[in-house]
Amino acid sequence: MGIFRTKPVEQSIADADEPEHRLKRDLSATDLTVFGIGVIIGTGIFVLTGVAARENAGPAVALSFVVAGVVCALAALCYAEFASTVPVAGSAYTYSYATLGEVVAWIIGWDLVLELALGAAVVSVGWSQYLNTLLDTVGLALPTSIAGETATVNVPAMLLVALLTAVLVAGIKISSRLNAVMVAVKLAVVGLVIVAGLFFVRAANYTPFVPEAQPRGEESGLRAPLVQEVLGYTPTDFGVLGIFTAASIVFFAFIGFDVVATAAEETRDPQRDMPRGIIGSLAVCTTLYVAVSLVVVGMQSYAELNTAAPLAEAFRAVDQDVIATLITVGALAGLTTVVMILMLGQSRVIFAMSRDNLLPRGLAAVHPRFGTPYRITIAVGAVVTLMAGFIPLSALAELVNIGTLFAFVLVSIGVIVLRRTRPDLPRAFRAPWVPVLPALSVVACLWLMLNLPVDTWLRFLAWMLLGVVVYAFYGSRHSRVAGAAQDRTIDLREGQGRAWLDEGGADPTGTSGTRRDERP
Ligand code: ALA
Repeated sequence: MGIFRTKPVEQSIADADEPEHRLKRDLSATDLTVFGIGVIIGTGIFVLTGVAARENAGPAVALSFVVAGVVCALAALCYAEFASTVPVAGSAYTYSYATLGEVVAWIIGWDLVLELALGAAVVSVGWSQYLNTLLDTVGLALPTSIAGETATVNVPAMLLVALLTAVLVAGIKISSRLNAVMVAVKLAVVGLVIVAGLFFVRAANYTPFVPEAQPRGEESGLRAPLVQEVLGYTPTDFGVLGIFTAASIVFFAFIGFDVVATAAEETRDPQRDMPRGIIGSLAVCTTLYVAVSLVVVGMQSYAELNTAAPLAEAFRAVDQDVIATLITVGALAGLTTVVMILMLGQSRVIFAMSRDNLLPRGLAAVHPRFGTPYRITIAVGAVVTLMAGFIPLSALAELVNIGTLFAFVLVSIGVIVLRRTRPDLPRAFRAPWVPVLPALSVVACLWLMLNLPVDTWLRFLAWMLLGVVVYAFYGSRHSRVAGAAQDRTIDLREGQGRAWLDEGGADPTGTSGTRRDERP
């Protein structure tokens, strides 16, 4: 069936080389790892550690980080294989197009909006909260109606997004430099938390390590994890199940290693460096997370942890105000790069989709001087600015998780499919134990998804349904791959042999891929 048409890997790679759609190849393995750390360490560790420990897992939140880290490691190996085999900007979208077909690719592209654009907006609101905390320490706090998590119009969040959009338009290298500076600051602060915090750890705070399971409080069925509702037992917090509920929340902290894959077209040697960037950044961050969470729950009883700024407040609780302020500065730097790179990832996914005509193709133009997809970057910036400014987003962080986990599921399935359909492709990096490892990755991601609340599932399904409608009315009618397939039939019939879809026969100028909507 047409909607399950796949896009050959060779064609994806050739499209990435069209002169008018060529991005600047400027990044090395180190740049990618720093990029990864830039987008991974953020709200998750600076905010959610407190929420997850206090409400769901207790000191065992450290184990939740391990669980989420293992789930991500399985998915990361799958991403690494794909990114080294199909080094094209769209990441999960492109991989799905090559394996599972156009409609699935569209769905995943649509789904990634939850991870990337929504994620950027959610984190920018957290940034605004941290900014106000910092301003408060010098007596300059902004009114809560225009700053912080409960603002009606979130001015600092909007300004941040607008500024970062300008940086992203100005070029991948400058974005990468800004990122490097910010990453240095946040790594220094995370290191400080671990080292300085050790002096204040009290063994008593670790007992009980896994607090006894308790029935959930006042929350209605809609806030209960889907798995507990489906299995029909009273939803609980803490206990062993609490570790998994917390894992599905702190999963947010790991989001981003997959965004590294969207920079494939801007990497000098993607085959070699993509796996290094993806796996390297994840490994560094997982180690830091487990260390930070162990230290923080050792410094303060989990029941007393602050849920808005747990790291800084744990130090304030032991009268270390200077360190607390430094942590706030580190968090601000940390969240800045998260917002920037999530938007970068979003623009690269839309770039790949418009190049395929699933979105208006004119969007995919690359700036002649900056070498960036400027139109898309500006459009993404505008949408994220509006979301950050006017929508109350704190309830939507879990929607970012479910969207990301869904992408991981499809990428893991895609690895198994591509090994079967295209065993011949050169794979610079091969995930071990295929198909067992990707299958485990699918099960693990689904398990975390099932641990998310019912209302998150409902919002997710509504968003996906909307995506299917948009595909039916736009993407399916404009698809370049579909158009090319039709052109090929016509060309062959006319004996012209202009079959650009043929493997290895892609036209590097990109001019023979007549757009469907351009044909008479
Ligand atoms: N992993 C990123 C964060 O924690 C999204 O903010």
